[in-house]
Amino acid sequence: MAKSNIKSIFFCNECGYESSKWVGQCPACKAWNSMVEEKVDKKIAAKTGIGLGNCADDNKPVSIGDISLDEEDRITIGIGELDRVLGGGIVPGSLTLVGGDPGIGKSTLLLQVCRQLSDKGTDVLYISGEESLKQIKLRAVRIGPMNDRLMLLCETNLENICEQVKRSGAKVVVIDSIQTMYSDSLDAAAGSVSQVREATAMLMRMAKEKSVSVFIVGHVTKEGTVAGPRVLEHMVDTVLYFEGDRHASYRILRGVKNRFGSTNEIGVFEMKNEGLAEVPNPSEYMLSGRPVDASGAIVSCAIEGTRPILIELQALVTRTNFGFPRRQSTGSDTGRLNLLMAVLEKRLDMKIGDHDAYVNIAGGLKIQEPAIDLAIVLSVVSSFRNRALSDDLVVFGEVGLNGEVRAVSNASIRVSEAKKLGFKRVVLPVSNKDSVDVKGIELIYVSSIEEALDKVI
Ligand code: TYD
Ligand code: MG
Repeated sequence: MAKSNIKSIFFCNECGYESSKWVGQCPACKAWNSMVEEKVDKKIAAKTGIGLGNCADDNKPVSIGDISLDEEDRITIGIGELDRVLGGGIVPGSLTLVGGDPGIGKSTLLLQVCRQLSDKGTDVLYISGEESLKQIKLRAVRIGPMNDRLMLLCETNLENICEQVKRSGAKVVVIDSIQTMYSDSLDAAAGSVSQVREATAMLMRMAKEKSVSVFIVGHVTKEGTVAGPRVLEHMVDTVLYFEGDRHASYRILRGVKNRFGSTNEIGVFEMKNEGLAEVPNPSEYMLSGRPVDASGAIVSCAIEGTRPILIELQALVTRTNFGFPRRQSTGSDTGRLNLLMAVLEKRLDMKIGDHDAYVNIAGGLKIQEPAIDLAIVLSVVSSFRNRALSDDLVVFGEVGLNGEVRAVSNASIRVSEAKKLGFKRVVLPVSNKDSVDVKGIELIYVSSIEEALDKVI
C-alpha cells in the first residue's frame, strides 16, 4: 500500500511553535492548551516556509554595489497620520500587516487608503474575503466618491489572487483578511496556523517579485495578538495595530514593527459618519469637555510614540462600605494605583487604606508609562480631601516607593505641549531641571510627593 503523504502536525495557536506530538503546554511560549492539530502534506510542508525561498537556477549572489535603490521611492498616501506611521509612505514591494479588534475600522482605513491612492493615479486592488462587492460599495459610498481606478475583487483562493494581481497590474493590493484566505496546496482550513502562514509567505513572494505593496488585515484574538500564529508578525515588513475603545470614537494606529522606519510613531484618527478623519492635535481632542473646579481631576502629559499627548486623569475616592477596599483603574495599571496609595499611606500617614479608589483616563486612552504617577497621586489626594486643583496646571513625574519624584524622559517636549495648549503652570521632577528650557510658562520643580502636595493642594 502506498504510504500516505498526509501527516499531523501540532501548532501553537499563540506563537506558531510546531511540534510532531500534542503537548499540554507549549514549550516555546508556555501557553496552556494552545496546541491545535493540522493535517499537512509532507511534500508541500517541506517546501513552504518563511522567507523568500527562490529555487531558480539563475539565483546567484550579487555585489552590494550593484543593487539599485530606486525602488525605495515611497508612495505617499495623502493621509498624514498614516504616512508618518509608515515612515513616510508606502515602500514598493512591502508587506504590511494591519491588526486590530473586529469593528475597530481596519477595512474602513484601508478603503480610504485605496481611495486616496486611486485619486492620485495609482492602480489599486482591494480583495475581500469577508464582504460582498455590494457591501464594500456601501461602505465606499459612506466614505465619499471613489475613482474608477479602484478595482474590487471578492476572492479567498490565493492562487487566483496572485493571478488576478498579476493581470490587473495593480501597484497596491489590500487583502481583507488573511484569516479568510486559503491556498490549494494545503489541506488545512482557512484561518488555521499553517494556512495563515502559507498565505503570508505567498503574498510576501508576490510582493517582492512583482514589486507590489500589499496590505493584509489580521484579526486579533482576545489576548490581543493577531489571531493564529504570531509567526505572521515575524514574516511581514511592517506591523501596525489599530486600537482604541470601540465605544469612544478616537482610534490610534501604532507601529509595532517597521523595517523601513521608526516604530515610535502613532497616528490618531476619529471615526466619523463618513469614515476616519485625522486628528492632528490629539491633546485638544483628549481635553475637550473637561469639568471645571471638580475635585480629583488633573491634567498630565504622556508620550505616545514620539508625540506628547495631554490627558485628563480623574480619581474618585470614597469610604469602603464592605471590609475590603476596591481599587480600579481604567486606562492605567491598577497595580500601580495600589502601590501609589500604599506610598501615600506610609510616607504621608494618610488614612486611605479603608477607602475605595477609582481612577480613569478620560477618552479611553491607555497609558503604560510611569510618568503619570504624580498625576495619579495628586488626583487621588484631591478627591480624598475633596479639594479641586487649579485647572491651569499640568503635572508629570514618576513616583518612587519612598515618595520621591523621579525624572522622566522628554520633559521638555511635555512642557512645550502644555504651553501650546495654554496651560500656565507645570509641576515636574526637580531632576529634570537641566533638560527643560522652555520660557513663558511657570515651572514648579518638586522632589517629593509631599512637596508637590504643599505646592498645589
Ligand atoms: P470596519 O472598518 O468594518 O472594521 P473592521 O474591518 O476593523 O472589522 O469598521 C466598522 C465600524 O465602523 C462599524 O461599527 C461602523 C463604523 N463606521 C463608521 O462609524 N463610519 C463610517 O464611515 C464607516 C465606514 C464605518
Ligand atoms: Mg473588516
